[in-house]
Amino acid sequence: MMANPSTLFRTRRVLTGDRPTGPLHLGHYVGTLKARLELQEQGNEVFILVADYHALTRGIRREKTVRLKENTRELLRDYLAVGLDPKRTTIYRQSDVPQVAELALLFGMLVTVPRLSRVPVLKEVMRDEQIENPSFGLLGYPVLQAADIALVKGELVPVGKDQASHLEVAREIVRRFNGEFGKVFPEPEALIKGEVLPGTDGSSKMGKSLGNAIMLSDDEKTVKEKVMGMYTDPTRIRPTDFGHVEGNPVFAYLDAFATDSQKVSDYKELYQKGKVGDVEVKKYLVQVLHEFLSPIRERRKEFSAEKDLEIILEEGKNKVLPVAQETLRQARQAIGIE
Ligand code: TRP
Repeated sequence: MMANPSTLFRTRRVLTGDRPTGPLHLGHYVGTLKARLELQEQGNEVFILVADYHALTRGIRREKTVRLKENTRELLRDYLAVGLDPKRTTIYRQSDVPQVAELALLFGMLVTVPRLSRVPVLKEVMRDEQIENPSFGLLGYPVLQAADIALVKGELVPVGKDQASHLEVAREIVRRFNGEFGKVFPEPEALIKGEVLPGTDGSSKMGKSLGNAIMLSDDEKTVKEKVMGMYTDPTRIRPTDFGHVEGNPVFAYLDAFATDSQKVSDYKELYQKGKVGDVEVKKYLVQVLHEFLSPIRERRKEFSAEKDLEIILEEGKNKVLPVAQETLRQARQAIGIE
């Protein structure tokens, strides 16, 4: 008898999200979107939030707030295009759930300022954005994130490697709350895939703001141009020179996206022996990415209307609100402020 797939995994409550700050790229796909799709396919109860409050923690300025609406729509389109399905996965906007602010307020009292000051992401953000003194809101970024997770009683949090330190804070807060008031929240577990896709320029990470990313929304021509201009192996002058596969982003992308792994390993071997040129391998990558992105482009067309996106957000809100209200009620009751 065939095993029922739902009995093979214990289904879990999953929560994750992204700040709406621009289009998602192939690195996001490899780093987190792929894991979300798998969790969705396995029948887990997945919640994904558009973290619009978090998008303001680096400075709440007019030039940012005016872009939030459009960035939120763009993020939603990326989600839907890759196959996140609002029928199965609850997709919602953080600011549609004001309960998160109250939970974050309570959580803020369970963690110290020095602890938050030590979070490595904070230091990186301050350096990158030239912020001399963090605002209360920026320091509290992991507290708000902990509230996001706990509000839906999230057990599993698929995130990129850089988010591990935030998850650690969330776990500490939850432990402290449960220790003091009894178990209200599950201790969230980070699901870190650890795969980081290099940039087209050969730098270690593909990044939105680094100008080295291939977006999920890039058209065919743009992808081709980006691939043909990619960094490969600087030690290789002629196609007959021995090539390096390690540290070569063209092969990293082939490993991540090609479905024919035999063909990839054949190309690697030829490349290392100096028997195939960069151009040929890049042309193959263009074809591989075309195959990967075509269904994403098709789905994107279906979900382009603003009205449809509004409906999806409205439905997400209606699904998450009762959950949030109930969790907050339990938290208030546990503390004794009901
Ligand atoms: N901090 C996450 C990021 O920058 C976004 C985020 C906000 C998030 N709230 C969350 C991720 C809750 C996981 C769970 O990508």
